[in-house]
Amino acid sequence: MPLSSNHLLGLQGVSKEDLQLILDTAHTFREILDRPIKKVPTLQGKTIVNLFYESSTRTRISFELAEKRLSADAINFAVSGSSVSKGETFKDTIKNIEAMKIDMVIVRHSAAGAPVYLTKICDANIINAGDGTHEHPTQALLDMYSIRQKLGKLEGLKVCIVGDIAHSRVALSNIFGLQTMGAKVSVCGPSTMIPKNIKDLGVEVIYNIDEAIQDNDVLNVLRIQLERNAGEYFPSIREYAKYFGITNERLDKNGKDVLILHPGPINRGVELSSEVADGSNQIILYQVTNGVAIRMAVLYLLGTLN
Ligand code: CP
Repeated sequence: MPLSSNHLLGLQGVSKEDLQLILDTAHTFREILDRPIKKVPTLQGKTIVNLFYESSTRTRISFELAEKRLSADAINFAVSGSSVSKGETFKDTIKNIEAMKIDMVIVRHSAAGAPVYLTKICDANIINAGDGTHEHPTQALLDMYSIRQKLGKLEGLKVCIVGDIAHSRVALSNIFGLQTMGAKVSVCGPSTMIPKNIKDLGVEVIYNIDEAIQDNDVLNVLRIQLERNAGEYFPSIREYAKYFGITNERLDKNGKDVLILHPGPINRGVELSSEVADGSNQIILYQVTNGVAIRMAVLYLLGTLN
């Protein structure tokens, strides 16, 4: 059964069947990553461009590895060192890259909607690798896959997304994906970082982190995005850490064996203490490993559509 779209722009509106297909396909690819020779010929002859207009460590390397594991030709574009510094527009850049005959574009951009715009001007399959504060679909897919692997299901689970909800593309993609898969999603953070209309998405809002720990099976703890001026939404980093930071004392006090995810990069000592970031409740590097399998699945499902 193929995916029902030529692109992966976000998880809003993606059907349960498509999400299930991506998660199940990722599971078949996950085993390849543990082989001595981690390569299959599935996308041989396909050319994939990684178009990163914003910084990235995990997503960029994960996509590039996934492309190489599937034997595609991977081309990396970074703004620094490109003709963007000479004033070339986003449209001209992509039209020139497309003219070199490419099949797929992975795009990260600070502007929400940049991936959708690419679908209007370019014939390649487009995958959103994070667009502004809008969506980061492959991050949410790898989060869902990791939770499903650890807890055996998504249906009926209680998942709380903690922190800077207002600036987070990870939060929105998680809300859409998890709800479609039957999880009950809540958010927790300072009131200044919770969008006013978030309840319209069917999400419960919790303002007390101890309550969030007690009431949930999973906490997906987000990074405070200081590069998007998130530090202006609370009095100080120390105060944020005091009221919303996850520490061992807080976990012990609530006596709850909650599963902790974080998309990375971590602000150690802010949203997670270092003990928690390296502790037994968290699955942060497990998420990173699974991310390669998720991206292989998405590349495979889109790359073999046509
Ligand atoms: N989680 C995530 O998107 O990390 P990067 O910004 O390093 O890609």
